[in-house]
Amino acid sequence: MKTTISQAAKHKDQEVTIGAWLTNKRSSGKIAFLQLRDGTGFIQGVVVKNDVSEETFQRAKSLTQETSMYITGKIVEDTRSSFGYELQVSDIEVIQEAVDYPITPKKHGTEFLMDHRHLWLRSKKQHAVMKIRNEIIRSTYQFFNENDFVKIDPPILTGSSAEGTTELFHTKYFDEEAYLSQSGQLYMEAAAMAFGKVFSFGPTFRAEKSKTRRHLIEFWMIEPEMAFVDHEESLVIQENYVSYIAQSVLENCKLELEVLERDTSKLENIKAPFPRITYDEAIELLKEKGFDDIKWGEDFGAPHETAIAESFDKPVFITNYPAEIKSFYMKPHPERSDVVLCADLIAPEGYGEIIGGSQRIDDLALMQERYEQHGLTGPAYEWYLELSKYGSVPHSGFGLGLERTVAWLSGVEHVRETIPFPRLLNRLYP
Ligand code: 4AD
Ligand code: MG
Repeated sequence: MKTTISQAAKHKDQEVTIGAWLTNKRSSGKIAFLQLRDGTGFIQGVVVKNDVSEETFQRAKSLTQETSMYITGKIVEDTRSSFGYELQVSDIEVIQEAVDYPITPKKHGTEFLMDHRHLWLRSKKQHAVMKIRNEIIRSTYQFFNENDFVKIDPPILTGSSAEGTTELFHTKYFDEEAYLSQSGQLYMEAAAMAFGKVFSFGPTFRAEKSKTRRHLIEFWMIEPEMAFVDHEESLVIQENYVSYIAQSVLENCKLELEVLERDTSKLENIKAPFPRITYDEAIELLKEKGFDDIKWGEDFGAPHETAIAESFDKPVFITNYPAEIKSFYMKPHPERSDVVLCADLIAPEGYGEIIGGSQRIDDLALMQERYEQHGLTGPAYEWYLELSKYGSVPHSGFGLGLERTVAWLSGVEHVRETIPFPRLLNRLYP
């Protein structure tokens, strides 16, 4: 019977055939150990000389890395491996012999691996990271579906900028000027007025000249937007959501976390509520920690965020940033016009900001004032202004960066390993 490695437990003590690739092997005169993968998982195949034909044994011994095959054998329990099963091989049918596969089991440099990303994705560690990414996506849909959100897809080609004009990818839309979306937020605000609670999940683009472990040029964002929800209520949804995906990964990605040698005790802690500090308090904390130069009104860089996060064992919300350094659409604090009702959620262990969110301006006159201050003119923005004109209501939303969240939960250092084909400052290949 044809099956997959992920289904092994269901076929205990049965003979099955699996389409697989060889990742590594070890053999002696009497026995060969084949490390096999089929995309759904990894399993060891054991070929015993005395149990198979001479031809099959010789074929097993001569298999090269990444050779593809149909391999037949009996699934048996193997308590020594964390997967729990192995394959007692009886037959091997080679599909294609792979010659000189470039990524060998020895160590390779990052640039080499990035140049071979189309093949590197097959390796055990990369496979584990992508499975964790998949689990975050799966549990994201589950969380928002369970909480009555409607999935809405904002456009990717847009005529307006959502997050400032300096990091836009320009393109031609026939005769018009267009941009690749930096954020679907403005469209999600329109959607919230039509559907109440909505979320999007899609690619976003930032022509950022940043070359850090936290920045991609193309990244995926989850953007919920909620009508009749204020800033404080939004924070509760954010912490519940992040706790939910962290606990889902812990529960459903045990093998993957083990492959990545993730310290899971750090993740067990990720349960709502999360601590909250104001921007003002964060400035004080930074001064105590020796950042003597930091002044009120300055934005935080990676070292600041890391230092703040070190004081907490859960993600921490930094709230009420100065209006000057935040986006035009954020609602001013009712008692202090110099700060806005917003929060960044900073992940522990130096992974930085994973969420940016705020309550939005819902007052037409104030929105018009912000438009003028930010030079947002022209027909491209008119539709957005109409949202504060026809039945405006308090509403809040946020954006969670998928890749930074994958990096944090997986414990990988750099976001470039958290997306199948990263787009970086110097990389459009493969
Ligand atoms: O803080 P940002 O820029 O917020 C927005 O775009 C809002 N419009 C979201 C909203 O309220 N609907 O981006 C949100 C998140 C960040 O916290 C970060 O996790 C991620 O997106 N992010 C990036 N991830 C990878 N590479 C980049 N260059 C990123 N820029 C932002
Ligand atoms: Mg931000």
